[in-house]
Amino acid sequence: MNIGILISGRGSNMLALVEAVKNGEIPDSKVKIVISDNRNAAGLSKAAAHKIKTVVIELRGRTRREHDAEIIAELQKQNVELVCLAGYLRLLSPEFIAAFRNSIINIHPSLLPAFPGLEAQRQALEYGVKFTGCTVHFVDEGLDSGSIIRQKVVSVLDNDTIETLTNRILSEEHALYIEAVKQIVSGNYKINGRGVLTDAI
Ligand code: GRF
Repeated sequence: MNIGILISGRGSNMLALVEAVKNGEIPDSKVKIVISDNRNAAGLSKAAAHKIKTVVIELRGRTRREHDAEIIAELQKQNVELVCLAGYLRLLSPEFIAAFRNSIINIHPSLLPAFPGLEAQRQALEYGVKFTGCTVHFVDEGLDSGSIIRQKVVSVLDNDTIETLTNRILSEEHALYIEAVKQIVSGNYKINGRGVLTDAI
């Protein structure tokens, strides 16, 4: 499967996917392109170090629709079949969702539907929950609202800071994202309303 990854920053999830494709953990796949909406994203050089094509497509005062049209064109040029958002900080336009219907996935650092949007780890700490985690889900028109593929629970400790909690969740994110992409690539899943059936289908 041809994979395209969208980033805005550090790119640690992107790197985890790239390495998993490279070492065969995610089989029969190729990361064809990494696109960033931010020229200063640290992830760009990490992708380039793996000889992956990188493209910067910034908003430059355009509408979201115009911006997305350029991204869609780049993805299509590379025959991308699965789009992985990995710390991509923009909402996608309806045109983007329609162009890659049920073929865009995202990772989010909470147990959705709790704590969507930015700073999910801070939201969890401020709410006082004892468990949070991470979620890989399909992307639809809403904010972190698409069908859920996989989740992993992470305990919140009494002495957690945003930083310690963020790091503990992040180390689970990488493995979870790899598992989810593996599942999608295998074709062994079924979207069932809000959920995605992934066991022995
Ligand atoms: C991760 O916490 C991810 O869940 C969220 O943004 C962060 C991106 O981190 N969507 P990285 O760029 O993958 O290191």
